[in-house]
Amino acid sequence: MLGNQKVVQAFAHEADAQEKFEDINEDLRVWSLKATFFSSITNPATRFVNSLVYASVGIAGAFAAVKGLLSVGQLSSFLSYANQYTKPFNEISGVITELQNALASAARVFELIDEEPEVPEKPDAAVLSNAKGEVSLEHVYFSYNPETALIEDMNLKVRQGQRVAIVGPTGCGKSTVINLLMRFYDVDSGSIQVDGTDVRHMTRQSLRTSYGMVLQETWLKSGTIRENIAYGRPDAAEEEIILAAKEAHAHGFIRRMPEGYDTIISEDGGNLSQGQKQLLCIARVMLCLPPMLILDEATSSIDTRTEIKIQKAFGKMMEGRTSFIVAHRLSTIKEADVILVMRDGHIIEQGTHDSLISQNGFYAQLYNSQFAV
Ligand SMILES: Nc1ncnc2c1ncn2[C@@H]1O[C@H](COP(=O)(O)OP(=O)(O)O)[C@@H](O)[C@H]1O
Ligand SMILES: [Mg+2]
Repeated sequence: MLGNQKVVQAFAHEADAQEKFEDINEDLRVWSLKATFFSSITNPATRFVNSLVYASVGIAGAFAAVKGLLSVGQLSSFLSYANQYTKPFNEISGVITELQNALASAARVFELIDEEPEVPEKPDAAVLSNAKGEVSLEHVYFSYNPETALIEDMNLKVRQGQRVAIVGPTGCGKSTVINLLMRFYDVDSGSIQVDGTDVRHMTRQSLRTSYGMVLQETWLKSGTIRENIAYGRPDAAEEEIILAAKEAHAHGFIRRMPEGYDTIISEDGGNLSQGQKQLLCIARVMLCLPPMLILDEATSSIDTRTEIKIQKAFGKMMEGRTSFIVAHRLSTIKEADVILVMRDGHIIEQGTHDSLISQNGFYAQLYNSQFAV
């Protein structure tokens, strides 16, 4: 509710949210009270029982001593033994709350330890350096959960420097393909190879640094704008940073910020618009220029005029680099070498813009629906 305060306000859910919070809070109050009550009562209760035992031993012993069955000395040493015997029970009951806390915490710690780790890297994993950018997918099957199949038998061969565009309706698996390329997930079966090596046989770090990535969701770190642009190459010179910002058409708005490149932005980029955040992410990639590029709806929050300008910069950047582009505005991907049309996790059409248009299939339908008057 705190994180999505805007949503709560936009739907006028304040009263509901308050009520829900109070319910949860009330539950917590009741249970905390019970927990505190029972944990505080344990020690006094054991002490009480012990005192009863002590008293009954004392009284019975006193009668026995009067009758002459027991000497007073025996009785007093018996009482002192009884006291020593019950002492540890008192002490244990004093720390019973801590014991229970420790048990509950241990259960949680073990739950975490038992969690399946990310598939560890092979000790002889190759390091991908200066990738050429030949990417191939062979019979790739993947789904997030076993019940619902998503990507099935996907095959693709991308030569060095090719531009691959992926289009298709929302939820058809475009971003999933990107996740697989970056190895955020491993394929269920089949294989993905870069420069002829299976991505599972190379270090994640070297694979990921070979890709430059701009996504629809932006992420920035809290720090200055300069630090954010230079994230991939902290040693970049000032001029390079400014050049990258200019190419991404971010220079203009950065200059207008109160402190320019030294303006501090918060982690969620609160003081920037969504489009400005995207421009910063684009500048970041423009600066490090890795051998392969992934643009997943990279310009979705940017106005069309700026987008057209950025497309030019992207065009220059993509020369000689294998790139994967996901875009909804089909005008931006007309020049791609291969367009993959996806639907429900399958590639249903594949080819250049012109060949797909002349096929008059699903792509032609999508394209015409965007340009129909
Ligand atoms: N992390 C995830 N866990 C489970 N299911 C997911 C996850 N991400 C995406 N999905 C599901 O996979 C399908 C494809 O999603 P995605 O590849 O993001 O689509 P898009 O083509 O719009 O980028 C969707 O049906 C979505 O609900
Ligand atoms: Mg997506």
